[in-house]
Amino acid sequence: MSAPTLEIHLSEDQMTEALRQDASAGLTATPKSLPPKWFYDARGSELFGAITELPEYYPTRTERELLRAKAAEIAKLSATQILVELGSGSSEKTMLLLDAMTAEGTLEQYVPQDVSPSALSGAIDQLRLDFPGLNVHGVVSDFTDTLHNLPSGGRRTIAFLGGTLGNLVPEERSEFLGSIAEVLDPGEHLLMGVGLVIDPAVLVPAYDDAAGVTAEFNRNVLHVLNKRLAADFEPERFEHIALWDEHSEWIEMRLEATSDMTVHVRDLDLTVSFAAGEQMRTEISAKFRLDGIADELRAAEFGIEHVWTDPEDRFALVLATRS
Ligand code: AVJ
Repeated sequence: MSAPTLEIHLSEDQMTEALRQDASAGLTATPKSLPPKWFYDARGSELFGAITELPEYYPTRTERELLRAKAAEIAKLSATQILVELGSGSSEKTMLLLDAMTAEGTLEQYVPQDVSPSALSGAIDQLRLDFPGLNVHGVVSDFTDTLHNLPSGGRRTIAFLGGTLGNLVPEERSEFLGSIAEVLDPGEHLLMGVGLVIDPAVLVPAYDDAAGVTAEFNRNVLHVLNKRLAADFEPERFEHIALWDEHSEWIEMRLEATSDMTVHVRDLDLTVSFAAGEQMRTEISAKFRLDGIADELRAAEFGIEHVWTDPEDRFALVLATRS
């Protein structure tokens, strides 16, 4: 038995440097865009937590119910000794897997990874209480960094839950799946939770809730730029947009300038103008079809071991095996 540890691979400085690069590239591009990973400072992680409890936001509760129902099967099929979770956030749903893998008698170590130190240290405090005997090693990093430092010494499963795969554009996705395949040995597993293509009448409100929490989450990226790069965005002058792109089959979140604006990003020595009505992309959240995700996994040298879906076919858990 050992006390949980938290390893910081991504220092504040590295994080700020990455943000500087993303912000200067995104704010000078046409059209402007910002990557979704910058939503998640402490406030953004809290807002995301509030989103998961909204009546309209079905993914989290659907995935949780799937995990509750299927965790024992997943534990048996994967015989996981080391569970590595990418983008673990609060680890709340993962506790269902940890329970099942502990009951199965195989689990030795849990390695949650996230970009948010606040979310991760909160998760570790909870894990310490709920799984006192488990070897937990948290890693604050970017996904790719964790993959390069993957723990060894036991049969590994990499979990990537919540539908976060959908935040990557297709090229990033295949690169990402390929880099996971590269670090796993044949027979080891990847467990993914992915949102499925469903009726836009259900999908769109999940990203544009009546209470306006998602709007505030979306605008949080501007608060992050204000705080970390000394920018002077007025977030309330941007309107939240969520639209379903039926060709790409993804939800796209944007921020729309409600009037002409000039914004200064002091730490980048950058002045950015927005025209009234100009839209900046802040996130894509792709939804999948089962044959499509199987093709993408096969292309990355994974076989599908099992797929579980909820009764309404809104969400899938996919257990893939490295070929
Ligand atoms: C946790 C990244 C998967 O895309 O559904 C929620 C983030 N964005 N509402 C998602 C999110 C807007 C969420 N992921």
